[in-house]
Amino acid sequence: MDFRELLPRRRMVRHYRPDPVPREQVERIVSTVRRAPSGGYSQGQRLLVITQDAGRAEVARVLGDAGWTASDDREPWLETAPVHVLVCTREEDYHERYRRPDKLVDGEEIEWPVPFWFVDAGAALMLLLLAAIDEGLAAGVSGVPRDAAAALRASFGIPDDVEIVTLVTIGEPAPDPGWSAVTSRRTQPRRAPDEVVRWERW
Ligand SMILES: Cc1cc2nc3c(=O)[nH]c(=O)nc-3n(C[C@H](O)[C@H](O)[C@H](O)COP(=O)(O)O)c2cc1C
Repeated sequence: MDFRELLPRRRMVRHYRPDPVPREQVERIVSTVRRAPSGGYSQGQRLLVITQDAGRAEVARVLGDAGWTASDDREPWLETAPVHVLVCTREEDYHERYRRPDKLVDGEEIEWPVPFWFVDAGAALMLLLLAAIDEGLAAGVSGVPRDAAAALRASFGIPDDVEIVTLVTIGEPAPDPGWSAVTSRRTQPRRAPDEVVRWERW
């Protein structure tokens, strides 16, 4: 799909048809992470792809209070998504990379201007969203509160040096009128171009 066609379709979808997504399609979507940019080519992004019923039910259970579920009186989101992807980061990859000679500044690891590991997780999540749309599917993002992240870490054996950044849901879209109640351009205008993009001088 042409980028100009794809981008206007980009929106969070929080309700999915029950059909499973074919494995090859999921693989194409998640493999885009390898093309994401990363600071110093640290490649700190990690994904945990959850497609089996028990795992998906566990994600919905753990995020039930924080996420958007049938119990919130809207269309069920986490329970219906056939694919959950935990977008994670391994911060230590960045420290390892930036302690290599070509990255040292005065013999030391740089003072991090911002945490590049979260920047790169964001770039990875955007690729997942766009790749899902390119496959004719839809996707959504949920934050993962700290206590939920701890529970997911235990349930799915996520190692201590890998941090969960966000959850991406993927599947065939189902009607989601509740979308209009909570979010985005249905309820509030986008910020004006000159508020978000300045030219030449702030
Ligand atoms: C880091 C991040 C966390 C988000 N967390 C949630 C969330 O917990 N629950 C939710 O309903 N939407 C969540 N969203 C989706 C945003 O609410 C959504 O992107 C925003 O309202 C704009 O809507 P649009 O993506 O449909 O244009 C999250 C998005 C991002 C990027």
